[in-house]
Amino acid sequence: MDIKALVSQMTLEEKAGLLSGDDFWHTKAVERLGVPRTMVSDGPHGLRKQDEAADHLGINDSIKAVCYPAACATAASFDPDMIREMGEAIGDSCQHEKLSVVLGPAVNIKRSPLCGRNFEYFSEDPYLAGAMATAIIQGIQSRNVGTSIKHFALNSQEHRRMSSSSDADERTIREIYFPAFEQAVKEAKPWTVMCSYNRINGVYASENPWLLTDVLRKEWGFDGYVVSDWGAVSDRVAGVAAGLDLEMPASGGVNDRKIVEAVKAGKLDEKLVDQACERILKIVYRYLENAKPDTPWDKEAQHAQAAWIAAECMVLLKNEDNILPLNKTDEVAFIGEFAQKPRFQGGGSSHINCFKTTSAVEAAKDLKVTYTPGYSVAKDEATKEMIAEAAAAAKKAKAAVVFAGLPDSYESEGYDRSHMRMPECQNRLIEAVADANPNTVVVLYNGAPVEMPWIGRVKAVLEAYLGGQAVGEATVRVLFGDVNPCGKLPETFPLKLEDNPSYLYYGGEGNVAEYREGVFVGYRYYDKKKLDVLFPFGYGLSYTTFAFSGLKISAETIRDTDTLTVKATVKNTGSRAGKTVVQLYVGDVESTPIRPVRELKGFVKVGLQPGESKEVAFTLDKRAFAYWNQQIHDWHVETGDFTIEVGDSSRNLPLKGTVKVESTVELPRHYTPDSIYLDIMADPKAASIMKEFMKKTMEIFGHEERDSGSEAAKEAVTEDMTLAMMQYMPLRGAMSFGGGPDSDKQMRELLKQLNGEA
Ligand code: BGC
Repeated sequence: MDIKALVSQMTLEEKAGLLSGDDFWHTKAVERLGVPRTMVSDGPHGLRKQDEAADHLGINDSIKAVCYPAACATAASFDPDMIREMGEAIGDSCQHEKLSVVLGPAVNIKRSPLCGRNFEYFSEDPYLAGAMATAIIQGIQSRNVGTSIKHFALNSQEHRRMSSSSDADERTIREIYFPAFEQAVKEAKPWTVMCSYNRINGVYASENPWLLTDVLRKEWGFDGYVVSDWGAVSDRVAGVAAGLDLEMPASGGVNDRKIVEAVKAGKLDEKLVDQACERILKIVYRYLENAKPDTPWDKEAQHAQAAWIAAECMVLLKNEDNILPLNKTDEVAFIGEFAQKPRFQGGGSSHINCFKTTSAVEAAKDLKVTYTPGYSVAKDEATKEMIAEAAAAAKKAKAAVVFAGLPDSYESEGYDRSHMRMPECQNRLIEAVADANPNTVVVLYNGAPVEMPWIGRVKAVLEAYLGGQAVGEATVRVLFGDVNPCGKLPETFPLKLEDNPSYLYYGGEGNVAEYREGVFVGYRYYDKKKLDVLFPFGYGLSYTTFAFSGLKISAETIRDTDTLTVKATVKNTGSRAGKTVVQLYVGDVESTPIRPVRELKGFVKVGLQPGESKEVAFTLDKRAFAYWNQQIHDWHVETGDFTIEVGDSSRNLPLKGTVKVESTVELPRHYTPDSIYLDIMADPKAASIMKEFMKKTMEIFGHEERDSGSEAAKEAVTEDMTLAMMQYMPLRGAMSFGGGPDSDKQMRELLKQLNGEA
């Protein structure tokens, strides 16, 4: 299809009309020219295609579909290949259902455990979020169906989600909140990007030219269309100018008319309207020309796949005395309503109408398993009788498994949690069961971290997250050892909410949420503060054990334009086959910018038979060592040593080495009378120019006098103090003390030399 020619035949009114939805889920048709409507649908862990009554909050029913594990769980797999396969299956379902775009993945950073939509997001770590987003986009789009990576950007809270301004400095945005979008846009080329509801430093994402055009298109090369989150448009004309192509859902014609008026009044260049139409139509036809509505949708096969994926995502947090896996011949008490009615997805626009679900109780029907509800989710209570019944069942069994976690009402799109606790009734139940049977195991179904006041009382904890419709089957497979758990936490579980770095400011004041913790999000903060946590980022146990050895770093020194290869060997030292995630972290040993101790820069999931070992390799480039420099508005590596740490959690990194990285970029310097000696002397060129003046300055700061002076004088001005006074002295200060340049003229000449102008 010649898109340009098509757009050139459209009237201004038709073009403005194309820039908003026909209804909740369709782009507009241009019947006169034979352009059909196309449909988009929520997801992304399955389809939420609404045929009839449409809404964006998951209230009305959608077609029966397959609910895969949500992003909180899939991130824990640390397995992009598996997530790509899940994407392929979702892409096939879209082809079957004639959907042009799935609205996801959602890659916002988990700034606080409280965010109501954390279950839809991948991680507190941008590198992991970027890798998982890239994989699912590649999978879905391999079926010629588009994705809409969302919510661009800095949408890490639900509180006042449509009006709040997320205020952060450029370095924080570039290092923490952008990279997942950046990697996915560059590597997976999503067909569309969904801008977020919120403002960023005061400007709505939906009308932010820096965000939607300068960064997204000019820097990262995005070439699809930008769609608004549903109802995110404030000033539509400003949005078109900024790079927002499609407004969703329909605007009832109001905003279309505003676009027409603005063009007629000369306030909006018609070329920008044409450009937005071209971008939308390019994607519309990319789908239409590759549509395969006869693609089969085998829901049973996808259910089986969802069960396999859910099991691979589970994180074994504790396993004292190797109580897990349980023995299939033992009597086991399943306790807690979630055992019969699992919570496996979150509320809101990603909510899927499952064609079937399997509970742990059903999945364990051939085993010696009893079931007691223990608590009621609907009433959020556990009566004395319920607890007594559960304790009695636990007492009779060899082991008790309490299925606990967060009910729907505790976390959902639309609002944030106000605390990190589990329901009180569930905590009480766990304590009572642990009293009755020392072999107590807790399975958690939740989308975000919870406090675990009972952690010392139970033998094992299995974090299953929101594992999709087949989570019951998956849980039973892991509990009884058919699957060896291999998930790792994609986020830190702090001991208490107050430890979280965003705690003081999360949610903000009125319509302003300042991201004051800057780049210190998640483990970047806990590690810097050396805080104890409940479970660290990257952590997860297995039914076998692994050992790391043989760290090989390809060079002692590299330039920031080179790449570095790091190799490490991992061995299965236990007696079962299993998988682990080899993780690589980089840290700047000493740096001018205040940086995290370590940051994840590579990971590989490895499966090993007992006794088997494998060498894995990582390639690191400039970005692995760089920070965002706000002076040059670019990535920069400061010359110096960097640590390379390898292991299987952010707090278990047995292999350590260093590499020196030399910068090939000279940062621009501009010296003024206010420049201090410390900074000038750190610059070798400037230091050599300053040699003569330095002699004079040293004299002023009384080296000689002090050496020959009284004891009292020596005590008054110590050597450390002299040094400090001198290094923090501005050039103008040295002049007023009688050192340094001694006239304005001399100062001007010195500055010319220092600034390379003489
Ligand atoms: C959500 C999006 C979703 C859209 C359409 C919005 O409320 O923020 O994630 O894709 O609705 O349902």
